[in-house]
Amino acid sequence: MSDSKQPPVIAIDGPSASGKGTVAKRIAQRLGFHYLDSGALYRLVTLSALQKRVALDNEAALAQLAGVLDARFHEDNVFLNQEDVTDLIRSEEVSATASQVAVLRAVRQALLIRQRAFRQPPGLVADGRDMGSVVFPDAVLKIYLTADTAERALRRYKQLIEKGMDANITTLLQDIRQRDARDSARAVAPLQKSDDASLLDTTKLSIDAAVEQVLARYAAAKRVP
Ligand code: C5P
Repeated sequence: MSDSKQPPVIAIDGPSASGKGTVAKRIAQRLGFHYLDSGALYRLVTLSALQKRVALDNEAALAQLAGVLDARFHEDNVFLNQEDVTDLIRSEEVSATASQVAVLRAVRQALLIRQRAFRQPPGLVADGRDMGSVVFPDAVLKIYLTADTAERALRRYKQLIEKGMDANITTLLQDIRQRDARDSARAVAPLQKSDDASLLDTTKLSIDAAVEQVLARYAAAKRVP
């Protein structure tokens, strides 16, 4: 149930490289809403842990890092302790490691308040794995955005090549499968489509078409008292 006294939330969850970040950002722009990239928070905790050489199974120390994280989001850039780490948090090392850090209950708990603080007027578009199921259970609209694994690997490949980076489609496919498996199998807040989420398969959809779909579903959801 949506809480009408709180700014509305559109929750967009789904697997890695499904395009949900791009779609969520565009929707936030179209509606003039705030945007939460919750994955970036998990990536920042991971980067901070790697920099400080904190063991990845030291749950208490990682939760402590998550609690005091000096993170700032400005336009398309992400800062950690005033340093621009936008590209660094997208590196393959951080990508692969973030899903290990994300299995830890205390880390997820430490990030909960931070994520909820993004809910400001006039509204929020939040993207991640558990936006609709755990962080904003009263979201007006919950979307589960996905695409075939091969298509997701191809999208990620094109992204990396465009940035002038090295990429190997077979390795990317393996990485995506591994992260999907870890995100779906974990005990706390696993990635799964909940019954109240609306499925959007973008395998054959352009970004523009996916954005229009979500906006249409939001307009319809708002009409329901
Ligand atoms: O969305 P993104 O790929 O940037 O997220 C990085 C990792 O953070 C994911 O693989 C997942 O393990 C974790 N994550 C999560 N819950 C979220 C967002 C991300 O567990 N809400």
